[in-house]
Amino acid sequence: MAEVILAIARGRNLKDRIKPWCCAKTGVNFCNDFRQRRRRLELIDTLEPSWRELFTRVTHLTLHLWPSQSPKLQSISLLCLLILILGRIVNALAPLTLGALITTFDNAGVVTFPSFGSNHLPYLITYVFLHFLSSSGGLAALRDTLCIPIMQHSDRSMSILTFNHILALSLSWHTKRKTSELLRILDCVPAVNRAGELIAFTALPALLDVAVAVVIFMIRFELALGVVVGVVMIGYIWVSVVLTRYHTGMRRQMDDRNVITREIHMDCLLNYETVKYFGGEEYEGRRYAEAIGGYQTFERGFISALNLLNLVQTLVITFGLLVGSIIVASRIERGESDTSDFVVFIVYYAQLYFPLSHLGGVHCAINQSLIDAEKLLNLLAEPTDVVDAPDAKELAVENGEVEFENVSFYYDGITPLLKNVSFKVPPGGHLALVGEPGAGKSTILHLICRLHDLQPGEGRILVDGQDIRTVTLSTLRNAIGVVPQDPVLFNASIGHNIAYGQPSMRPPQQSTIIDAAQAVQMHERIMSFPEGYETNIGERGVRLSDREKQRVAIARVMVKNPRVLLLDEATSAMDGAMERAALGRLVDGRSCLSVPYRLSTIRDTDVIVVLKEGRIAEQGSRKELLELDGLFASMWADQINMALRLPLILYHWHS
Ligand SMILES: Nc1ncnc2c1ncn2[C@@H]1O[C@H](COP(=O)(O)OP(=O)(O)OP(=O)(O)O)[C@@H](O)[C@H]1O
Ligand SMILES: [Mg+2]
Repeated sequence: MAEVILAIARGRNLKDRIKPWCCAKTGVNFCNDFRQRRRRLELIDTLEPSWRELFTRVTHLTLHLWPSQSPKLQSISLLCLLILILGRIVNALAPLTLGALITTFDNAGVVTFPSFGSNHLPYLITYVFLHFLSSSGGLAALRDTLCIPIMQHSDRSMSILTFNHILALSLSWHTKRKTSELLRILDCVPAVNRAGELIAFTALPALLDVAVAVVIFMIRFELALGVVVGVVMIGYIWVSVVLTRYHTGMRRQMDDRNVITREIHMDCLLNYETVKYFGGEEYEGRRYAEAIGGYQTFERGFISALNLLNLVQTLVITFGLLVGSIIVASRIERGESDTSDFVVFIVYYAQLYFPLSHLGGVHCAINQSLIDAEKLLNLLAEPTDVVDAPDAKELAVENGEVEFENVSFYYDGITPLLKNVSFKVPPGGHLALVGEPGAGKSTILHLICRLHDLQPGEGRILVDGQDIRTVTLSTLRNAIGVVPQDPVLFNASIGHNIAYGQPSMRPPQQSTIIDAAQAVQMHERIMSFPEGYETNIGERGVRLSDREKQRVAIARVMVKNPRVLLLDEATSAMDGAMERAALGRLVDGRSCLSVPYRLSTIRDTDVIVVLKEGRIAEQGSRKELLELDGLFASMWADQINMALRLPLILYHWHS
C-alpha cells in the first residue's frame, strides 16, 4: 500500500516545482524528511495545478483504479473501449445517412411516405437504427451497464485504501485532524471515480466527435467549413477553460466556507451538553449565521460565474452555427452542394453542439472531481510515521517485562516532555506512575503501545528485552491491554463493545463475554436493560453512566486477556470496594503499569515511579518512598489529610 500511496503522491509531479524552494529554504537536498513532506503538501494546496499536472494526476489515478488483478474486468474494459469507438463511427454515419436518405427523396420527386417500393427504405432503416444506437438508450446504455463492475471495483479499492490509510495514520495526525473536513474528504472517494468516468465517457468522445466532424466537413464540403468548425470548437474549449478556472476558484472558496459551517455543526453536536449548560445557543446561532453568510457570498460568485460561462459558450456556438450555415447556403446557391447537405450540416452541427454544450459543465465537474481527488491524494500522501520496520519480527512475550531505557520524548520537537526516563515493570509485577497533571503519564502508556514512536537517540522501550520498534505493531498491541483514562465506546450493542477485546470475524463465545461482565459486576445491570447484551449504548457510549463505561472498558480488556496491562486512571469513577472487585481479577498474574487515580489504591504495587518536570523524581516501593519523606510522602500525606478533612468540610458546608 505504501508503494501505491507514494506512486500517487509522486504522480502529483509537483516535486520539480517545489524542489528548488525546499533547497533554497532549508539548504538541504529534497528528501523524505517528514517536515519537508508536510510543507510540500501545504504548498501543493496553495498552487493552482497546471494542465500538465492535472494530466499526470489523472494518469496516476487511472493507473491506480485500473483493475490490474482481474482479467475479467480488463476484458470488460476493452469491450467498453470498442463500444466507445463504435459510437464515434455511428455518430459520424448518422447525419451522412440522413443526407443520403434526403437525396433519394429528391431523386424520387414527390415522396409519398412511407414508400416501400423505392430505394430509400434501406437508408431510412439504417438511419433509424443509427439514431437508436447513438441515443442515450443505445450504445451508451450498453456501455454504462457493462461498466458497473469496473466502477464498483474502483470505488471499492479507493474506499478501502483510504479507510485503511486513515486507520494507519498516527495518533499525532489524528489529534490534529478536523473530523468534519476528514468526513468531507471521505465523501470525495466516489468523486475520484466520477472524474475518470467523465473523462472516458463524456469529454474524450466529445473531442473525438469534433475531430472526426472537422475532417468530414473538409472532405464533404470545403476546407473553410472544416476550419470554421475547428476554430469555433477550439475557441469554445478555450473560453470554457479560462472561465472555468475562475469559476473553480470560487468553488474552492465555497468549499472552504462549507467546511467551516460543518465544523460548527460537529462542534455543537459533540458539545451539546456544554452549549446547554452555558446557555450558548444564541452565540452558536450567531456564529453559524455568520458562517452561512460567508458561504453564500462565494456561492453567489460561483453561480454568477457559472451563468457567465454558459452565456459565453452559447454565443461562441451560435456564432459557429451562423458562419457554417452561411458557407453551406452559399455552396447550395452556387450549385456546389445540394439541399440535403444543408440538413447534413445542421444535424451534424447540432449533434456536435449537444455534447459540447455539456463539455463546459463536464470540464467544471472534472475540475471539481480533481479538486476532491487532490484532497484525497493529500490524505493518502500523509506519511504513516508509525509503521512496521522492514525487518520487523513477531514479539516473543514470555514474562511481560516492560523497560524504559533513557527515554526522552518531544511532542513539538523542541521542548522535551520526558527526559531520560528509565524504569522497569517487573515481570508479573505492578508499577504505579504518579505525578502532577500533565507530567506525561498517559504519554508513557501511549509510547508503550507505539501510538508515537521514539526517534533514534531518544532511548528505547523494551518488552521482554525486545525493542518495540523492531517488532510488528500487531504482535505488540496483541500483547498489551489498555484501559484508557477516558474510555470511548462504539455506537453498538454492549455485547459487541465487550467482545471488541478480540476483534475478529469470529467474535468470542457469549460465555466469555458474560464471564468478563460478571468479573466487573456488570452482568446483573446488563440483564436489567430491555435488550440485555444487545442493548445499544449510543454514540461514544453516552447511554451508559461513567462508571458503567469504565467497567465495560475493563471487561473488554479481560476478554483480550493480555500479558501486559496498562491502566490509566482506570477506576477514577469507582469507589474503593468497587475498584478492588473490578480490577482484582484483571491484574492478577500480569505485568501491570498503572496510573492510579487515588494513591490509596497503590498499596499492592511493587514499584512506584514519581514524575516531576519530565524526570523521575523518586522511584521505589511505597515503604521506601514514605521513609524518604520526599515528594511522594507529601502527596500521600495530602491525600490522607484530604480524606480526613472532607467529612469536616462537608459538615461546615451544610451547617
Ligand atoms: N498529541 C499531543 N500533542 C501535543 N501535546 C500533547 C499531546 N498529548 C498530550 N500533550 C501534552 O503533553 C503533556 C502530558 O500529557 P499527558 O496526557 O501525558 O499528561 P498526564 O500526566 O497523563 O496528565 P493527567 O494527569 O492530567 O492525565 C501535557 O502538557 C499535554 O498538553
Ligand atoms: Mg493522563
